[in-house]
Amino acid sequence: MSLLNKTIVITGVSSGIGAEVARTARAQGAHVIGVDRNDPALSVDQFIQADLGETAAIDDLVAALPAGIDALCNIAGVPGTADKDIVERVNYLGLRHLTEAALPKMNAGGSIVNISSILGAEWPARLDAHKALAETNSFDEGRAWLAANPVSQEFCYQYFKEALIVWSAVKASEIFMKYDVRMNTVAPGPVMTPILGDFVAMLGEERVQADAHRMKRPALADEVGDVVAFMCSDASRWICGTNIPVDGGLASTYL
Ligand SMILES: NC(=O)c1ccc[n+]([C@@H]2O[C@H](COP(=O)([O-])OP(=O)(O)OC[C@H]3O[C@@H](n4cnc5c(N)ncnc54)[C@H](O)[C@@H]3O)[C@@H](O)[C@H]2O)c1
Repeated sequence: MSLLNKTIVITGVSSGIGAEVARTARAQGAHVIGVDRNDPALSVDQFIQADLGETAAIDDLVAALPAGIDALCNIAGVPGTADKDIVERVNYLGLRHLTEAALPKMNAGGSIVNISSILGAEWPARLDAHKALAETNSFDEGRAWLAANPVSQEFCYQYFKEALIVWSAVKASEIFMKYDVRMNTVAPGPVMTPILGDFVAMLGEERVQADAHRMKRPALADEVGDVVAFMCSDASRWICGTNIPVDGGLASTYL
């Protein structure tokens, strides 16, 4: 697996999983363009500050990106302790908007990697709704659909991770045919990053304790980052339209 000379755009680069993907990609000789609302704590080749919940900021970001992008890693995200409006904008609608706007700047053979979550695993229970949302054609159309089909604050994180898995799957083949760019999601279980505590608050102590007995430990961010890096590389060139769990076996214990 090599990322040598690849141009990789990484959102959420200033913390956690995004920072680890940037570290690995730079060590392998990739040209890393980092994006975040906060300044990065590590070296990247270029950094663009942007609020990924705002379409105007995303459009400015895309205008500033060079042509010839090999991989787009959509890693920025907020936990369900954030206001549901922000979760909707950042974790789903903004990610979609950035992806669709950046695609014309991507090279054939490129890869898009979206970070979903083990908490999105119950998407089959709401498949029709997620497909209907996936068919909306813009950020604003998505907002209007969600205004008519509201999501609760308590469940918004899970809902938009489910929706991301479904959107990525249903759009992947169309994008692969048109742009020769593949798209997949990577679904981490609990990861030791600054937002892990928010997940404990969001899920409640009982669920967290139940899960704690089902796994060895939370992942380290590089254990997820390495899989994202693989998904950016040509070694994964025939993987398209799938959701890859990286959870130390946690999801399998629910079978
Ligand atoms: N940590 C976990 O246990 C876990 C588990 C499953 C999935 N995830 C997902 O992994 C992704 C990365 O999370 P992490 O654990 O590395 O968290 P993190 O908080 O360490 O990193 C998230 C990054 O996203 C950035 N960000 C948030 N909102 C933004 C916005 N509006 N505009 C620009 N940047 C923004 C933050 O500034 C931060 O640098 C998220 O999508 C999260 O939902 C995390």
